[in-house]
Amino acid sequence: MDKKNRLILALDVTDRENALRIANEVSDYVDSIKVGYPLVLGEGLGIVKELVEIAPVIADFKVADIPNTDRLICEHVFNAGAAGIITHGFTGRDSLDSCVKVANDFGTDVYVVTEMSHPGGVEFFRPVAEDIAKMAVEAGASGVVAPATRPERVKDIRKIIGEELSIISPGVGAQGGSAADVIRAGADWVIVGRSIYNSDSPAEAAKKICDEMNC
Ligand code: C5P
Repeated sequence: MDKKNRLILALDVTDRENALRIANEVSDYVDSIKVGYPLVLGEGLGIVKELVEIAPVIADFKVADIPNTDRLICEHVFNAGAAGIITHGFTGRDSLDSCVKVANDFGTDVYVVTEMSHPGGVEFFRPVAEDIAKMAVEAGASGVVAPATRPERVKDIRKIIGEELSIISPGVGAQGGSAADVIRAGADWVIVGRSIYNSDSPAEAAKKICDEMNC
């Protein structure tokens, strides 16, 4: 992913018309559009094919299954044109290896969740976050997902993964995190959803976040 705006739009609207309108409005300010279950369950995987005409798409399916099922999911997503996929890591190295292998075949990216950004993210994830980050490095993932709501954790994760892997960081705005703080802590991109797509002017909201990060 080209690091121009440091902003990834989390496009969690559920209908095609709004999705395409918002994506077009913010396209100058985002490096990628993250699409997950809300939109794909609403409109089907075909929406990815339309969105990739506007910006590169990261599919946030938090893939978490046995290696063969993970492989099938990744193949569908990359055949639809996505440039990256978000997977879980707690399912183990063999499952992650399966996703990385498919991504390598397609020339695409795998981002592994290390710790969720919401309050419940500390309950089960925190004790294993650093092991998952280490595994992401060893498995050859492109990057990890770490919480903008806890910049100190982004700092910890950055120390573990070094400079080669990217950190993409959700939790800015609606969940309380600050874009500038988490970039300072070591994130490469922030992921922002509601603060942009619920705004009366998604473009202005996206520009404001970019300005905060001096991009
Ligand atoms: O609306 P908001 O800006 O809070 O959206 C954050 C997006 O990032 C959502 O799509 C959410 O599913 C996703 N996400 C997250 N925390 C993670 C991984 C993904 O909030 N650890």
